[in-house]
Amino acid sequence: MNDQAVLPAGYGQAVLPADAAPAPPSALFIFGGYGDLTKRLLMPSLYNLAHEGVLDGHFDVIGVDHIEGSTEDFRNHLTESVHQLAAAGHEIKEPIWNWLVQRIDYLSGDFENPETYDRIRERLEKRMKEAGDGNAVFYFAVAPRFFSIIAEQLGAAGLMQEGDKAFRRIVIEKPFGTDLASARALNRTLLSVGGESQIYRIDHFLGKETVQNVMAFRFGNGIFEPIWNRDHVEHVQITAAETVGVEKRARFYDATGALRDMVPNHIFQLLAMTAMEPPNSFDADAVRTEKAKVIEAVRRIRKSDAPNYVVRGQYRAGTVLGQHVADYRREPDVDPSSRTETYVAMKCFVDNWRWNGVPFYIRTGKSLAVRRTEIAIHFKRAPGVLFRDKPDCELSPNVLVINVQPDEGISLRFAAKVPGRRVRLSEVDMDFRYADYFKAAPSTGYETLIYDCLSGDPTLFQRADNIEAGWSAVEPILQATSEGLLDIHGYVAGTSGPVMAEVLLAQDGFQWLPLEQGLMP
Ligand code: BG6
Repeated sequence: MNDQAVLPAGYGQAVLPADAAPAPPSALFIFGGYGDLTKRLLMPSLYNLAHEGVLDGHFDVIGVDHIEGSTEDFRNHLTESVHQLAAAGHEIKEPIWNWLVQRIDYLSGDFENPETYDRIRERLEKRMKEAGDGNAVFYFAVAPRFFSIIAEQLGAAGLMQEGDKAFRRIVIEKPFGTDLASARALNRTLLSVGGESQIYRIDHFLGKETVQNVMAFRFGNGIFEPIWNRDHVEHVQITAAETVGVEKRARFYDATGALRDMVPNHIFQLLAMTAMEPPNSFDADAVRTEKAKVIEAVRRIRKSDAPNYVVRGQYRAGTVLGQHVADYRREPDVDPSSRTETYVAMKCFVDNWRWNGVPFYIRTGKSLAVRRTEIAIHFKRAPGVLFRDKPDCELSPNVLVINVQPDEGISLRFAAKVPGRRVRLSEVDMDFRYADYFKAAPSTGYETLIYDCLSGDPTLFQRADNIEAGWSAVEPILQATSEGLLDIHGYVAGTSGPVMAEVLLAQDGFQWLPLEQGLMP
């Protein structure tokens, strides 16, 4: 769950192209109606979709939560949060909010009580009579301990049975399990109540325009694909750097750590998009099969080898963006002797024909110098024969950077002659920025994901095998960590992370792109 984001970047703005067809009518049941995710991301995204005109006249939102209260209370609660956003300068058009708010309802009930589900069934029967369909999306915006409980109750109440005019879908948030065994168990439960096509597992990174654009960039252009392989690529760096610390989520985070929180899900999605083979079509399963193959090919290391592949870090007191940050172990709700990593760097290999021998370095961490998510493809250097006797002519590799956020764009670094009589080379960057070409502001991705789920397009959602492959690839590292085989290295908050992460690359003759000044500062 992306509970870091305060606001979708595209809040109050159209985020889908004007030619998008309206999504089919449906009831959207949000379990956890009073939760943070609903307030901060789901409702703003629904507002954006309403603004775009892609929600059907028979679209309903029903908040389900254990808090006693009426529909009016619930509407007031959401209207209040929307007004707060308006006060913060985000444009809210009252007629659009009013359109949406009239479609909001509330159902107070315990997630574990079958009566709650009887009432949901009654609502859907009524809907069938009035609107002519029994379509329903059940959104699990709740703590993970409720995932299986709600799924089983939906199944027991017969609410996952589809009919001619009744699709039934579950949207399930991250974290999806805490390791391979728990992810498998959760998949078993979900798949015992519905078919794979009814389960929409969210990885909000897949809703980011820049992540989706990786496929367009790779497969929609003739010039990149021929060099996108081990013959031309020297190594790949994937970075997801954050300036935020553990914030108010210490209870969750201290039990989770950076590896579980980011790697088998978000980072592996970026890796899969970068390394996948061209799918036969845009069909959801064609795309997801190619992605699953990449994650399955990620080398399973021996846990005793983990120290050669993985660096774990934890932030110490420092300054991030001018603000003092406390030592992680002094943050509220963090165990003072915690060995949970807030930073992880890893070397991975994708053991298939295309990528044999090409290292993929990944790093992610909190309380770092900058917020930046990027994929950097480092190409092999040109033979330097022509320049070998020239001082100031050391050849650097060409680097292509896909900047996922916040400065969405793509940048290519190459060598150019410095003007003058002497032959001198300098690195220059050719930049494409989304903002220069496209008006629509990139969104956090929830609009696209909700729209796709309502429309029955699971391409941007994770299939069961995808999730399990991710956990299976990090399993040896989780084991090495729990057996104390991996040290934890301190790093000062506001820096680029632990020095050992530099060593991880230096021992292979590489270095990370500087965090402070990437290709697109
Ligand atoms: C979430 C993680 O899934 O993704 C958070 O739980 C992380 O710890 C967040 O901060 C990052 O998402 P984004 O979209 O802000 O890069």
